[in-house]
Amino acid sequence: MIKTKSGAEIKEPVGKLGVLLPGLGAVATTFIAGTLLVRKGLALPIGSLTQMGTIRLGKRTERKFPKIKEFVPLADLNDLVFGGWDIFEDNAYESALKAGVLRKEHLDLVKDELEQIKPMKAVFDRKYVKKLDGPNVKKAKDKFELAQMLREDIRNFKERNNCDRLVMIWCGSTEIYMEPSDVHRSLEKFEEAMKKNDDAISPSMIYAYAAIAEGVPYANGAPNLSVDIPALIQFAKEMNVPIAGKDFKTGQTLVKTVIAPMLKARMLGLTGWFSVNILGNRDGEVLDDPESFKTKEVSKLGVLEYILQPELYPDLYGNYYHKVRINFYPPRGDEKEAWDNIDIFGWLGYPMQIKINFLCRDSILAAPIVLDLALFLDLAQRSGMHGIQEWLSFYFKSPMHAPTIYPEHDLFIQLMKLKNRLRHLMGEELITHLGLEYYD
Ligand SMILES: NC(=O)c1ccc[n+]([C@@H]2O[C@H](COP(=O)([O-])OP(=O)(O)OC[C@H]3O[C@@H](n4cnc5c(N)ncnc54)[C@H](O)[C@@H]3O)[C@@H](O)[C@H]2O)c1
Repeated sequence: MIKTKSGAEIKEPVGKLGVLLPGLGAVATTFIAGTLLVRKGLALPIGSLTQMGTIRLGKRTERKFPKIKEFVPLADLNDLVFGGWDIFEDNAYESALKAGVLRKEHLDLVKDELEQIKPMKAVFDRKYVKKLDGPNVKKAKDKFELAQMLREDIRNFKERNNCDRLVMIWCGSTEIYMEPSDVHRSLEKFEEAMKKNDDAISPSMIYAYAAIAEGVPYANGAPNLSVDIPALIQFAKEMNVPIAGKDFKTGQTLVKTVIAPMLKARMLGLTGWFSVNILGNRDGEVLDDPESFKTKEVSKLGVLEYILQPELYPDLYGNYYHKVRINFYPPRGDEKEAWDNIDIFGWLGYPMQIKINFLCRDSILAAPIVLDLALFLDLAQRSGMHGIQEWLSFYFKSPMHAPTIYPEHDLFIQLMKLKNRLRHLMGEELITHLGLEYYD
């Protein structure tokens, strides 16, 4: 046990940490291959806060900036073991080649390790992802039985790989839009509904349930509800399991949550924000279905409303038009392109425009997020944190939050929150940026 300055106790990260990924597609395989390359010393973990980030401690005059991974006890990359489920039988090497994110010459450097990662049979139903179908799928009499099969997979994986601890991160496709309903209200109703094969229980909820039941922290990288329902939030608390979500904040929304706070900080008005995307990967194909797109759209649209607070600033943000389009365009593969046209106004209402053209690579931006979430969720569990981990909002488009508050979307407030959570955990002084003492 590590004892922090505040007297808190953190279990040391000894032994192997298994990272379980429902969905071994572009994001998951880019994360796994990248982590393997990094630990062989063949690449740098760029984009990963846990690996490259520092944290200021104490006063600015002290000039103390340890690396985050040296400040808090995180699992070592050499101790990670990877596993997952997919509806396709391709191993991680084949799947990564098909995803077309990393070049073959890079994948070949870790081919042996990738080929050993073979997806377990998935819990899947086309009702929830209309554009996909595959052979590697479990069969059972009801959803409760499917959950038990996943629990067995989790236990077998842990034993086979001699893992000390596990975390699970949903990297599966975006499911159709669903709103929380009565069966999601309590664990009893949820379990009952699984036994009745109720349509309100989607596959991603079954994975989340199985993870929590096995005491495994769970994060949701897609916008579908999954663990973000009262029944599973309550279950996570009861089982002392940390959970987080939803929807990795990677490209366009990452930029949006930086530009929008800037407009608000300078009291500049907004008349319209039109966001367009073209992408040609499997994710793009799934999002071509209107029902899956709706889930993503709701997640992408929410951020402006919360950041700009039109109810507080009706003259600036009372009447803006916000539109998000995602277009499936196969030639681009994972190399997505996003355009933002932002119509703003300044002093005396004079109009101005901002244009952003972000040529990003979706999975290159998402992979380090998966790594950070795996390490932070494991840290959270070893530190006794459980339930919603709001300090991880930094990584999500639709951060999960307590029902009494609104989510925090501003990227830099999210970063401050994350770092202060780490300082608090280690018993260090929180940083308020007041700084009066330098002028006494
Ligand atoms: N890449 C990004 O920047 C980004 C950002 C935010 C969210 N996401 C989300 O992350 C998820 C993964 O993205 P991706 O680009 O890797 O997509 P992908 O299509 O390459 O991979 C998803 C994989 O999940 C599998 N799958 C679908 N349903 C499953 C189930 N029930 N069980 C097991 N496997 C299942 C699919 O067969 C596929 O291989 C998507 O939901 C996407 O919307 C990605």
